[in-house]
Amino acid sequence: MSWSHGYVADVPYTASYHAYQAPSQLGLACLLNRVHAPLPARRDDLTYVEVGCGRGRTALCLAASNPGWRVIGIDLLPAHVAEAREIATEAGIGNVEFIEADLASFDASLLPEIDVASAHGFWSWVADPVRDGLVRILAARLRAGGLLHLSYNALPAWQEAIGLQRLLIEAGDRIGGRSDHRAAGALELVQALRSAGAAHLNTPYVSGLIDRARGLAPGYVSHEYMNRSWRPCFHADVLDALAPARLDHVGSAVLLENFPELVLTDAQRAICDRIDEPRLRELTRDICMQRALRDDVYVRGARRMSREAQEQALAELTVCLTRLPDEIVYALKTASGTATLTPEFFRPVVQALGEGPRRVGDLLSIAAAAGQGQGGVGRAIDLVGMLVGSGQAMVVTRPEASVDSAGSAAGRLNRAIAGRITADEPGPSGETGQCGLASTRLGAGLACAPDALVAAVQAAGPPGDAAPPVDARLPTWRHAGIPGIPPEADEVLQMRSIL
Ligand SMILES: C[S@@+](CC[C@H](N)C(=O)[O-])C[C@H]1O[C@@H](n2cnc3c(N)ncnc32)[C@H](O)[C@@H]1O
Repeated sequence: MSWSHGYVADVPYTASYHAYQAPSQLGLACLLNRVHAPLPARRDDLTYVEVGCGRGRTALCLAASNPGWRVIGIDLLPAHVAEAREIATEAGIGNVEFIEADLASFDASLLPEIDVASAHGFWSWVADPVRDGLVRILAARLRAGGLLHLSYNALPAWQEAIGLQRLLIEAGDRIGGRSDHRAAGALELVQALRSAGAAHLNTPYVSGLIDRARGLAPGYVSHEYMNRSWRPCFHADVLDALAPARLDHVGSAVLLENFPELVLTDAQRAICDRIDEPRLRELTRDICMQRALRDDVYVRGARRMSREAQEQALAELTVCLTRLPDEIVYALKTASGTATLTPEFFRPVVQALGEGPRRVGDLLSIAAAAGQGQGGVGRAIDLVGMLVGSGQAMVVTRPEASVDSAGSAAGRLNRAIAGRITADEPGPSGETGQCGLASTRLGAGLACAPDALVAAVQAAGPPGDAAPPVDARLPTWRHAGIPGIPPEADEVLQMRSIL
């Protein structure tokens, strides 16, 4: 094994922001599952550690959006760390640090106590000693009550594609050269075999993966498929591996997945509802849903809450729309058909949100006053779960925060990222995936496409300008014709069974 334990080290990974890693999203996942979460995003002294942070876009965005936090990103690849540090310096983000380290031998005592940890796209892609390093950090440094977000390729959905991955590795070895060239060459062989009717490559799932890989940036394809230790996992095995850190599984950072009625058919739910044992329940869900990528949320010591306490905590949240009121989608595609956001309840809510961020409790009162918030329809869990879960709204972490100027930490970071997007040459190091527009009010990034980020920065005007913040203008985004608004619910769920 190489110094990277077989991990692709000769091509940088895509630079992306991942909304599921934001503490506000993780705290909400806890609340939706009736688990106490100290809504970490509201704390201004939070310590956030991202393991395998890649080129640092998520860590940078969270740091810029929460100037009181301490954010630490750890990654093996010097090129990733160098780029992330360079952006932090350029944008003057002083509350983020990037550590170049191999998790397999990293000394956990170098880290402070951690409130929230996240490892996105890490667990299934790295070798066992590296996974063990993550568990050592969590066991030693994650505080009691602290949160972990862990994404990984899940079994049994991925089992179907194990042959595809092996073929890419083996063919790549014969081709030689840089990982992205090997991946591109190996993909040609895969396509030729698929056209020739190779059975393994012609199942709908594997064929879908091949089509997807053809459209993806070479850096992404290399890091997705060319790692020697890549191994999809069953949820129960991940849970066992995390045992030294004493973590309890809470639910999914993909919020809609926490609503069984959206992801299971009625017949499947009738069976799953009879299963009390959590590991078996998760396995049956994965088997029913064919979930290929899991975004697990864990708490070090889950404390359950009553339904009343849950409603109360959700009612205290403030939310804002991410699209115009008349573009809200009320019919969400689900496993068993379509779930309709009851227009009588949601329309007055959406109308009120069209005027700006509102407290969920106030929105429930507005819906009730409109005469329809009765009889179990008007619950905070549905309001928040459906609107935020479908990407049509976001939690506003600091409703009271004054607007971000273009010269604020968030504004400076957005400008630095926009500069890179517009200046980058095509090629492996210039690849930009999903972006996050940093915002102090949101306390997280607004997920958007690179061109949307550039357009938003241009609209914000030069540094020092008192232009309104991006989040204050959210509802006007679509008017401006900016693409890349967060995907709709059916797309969110669809992506989970493809990735
Ligand atoms: C698939 S990428 C995901 C990057 C980022 N989290 C994201 O989702 O955009 C996995 C990351 O893990 C890092 N990594 C791999 N092996 C590692 C190790 N032994 N120690 C620390 N980081 C490692 C890689 O450099 C890479 O940036």
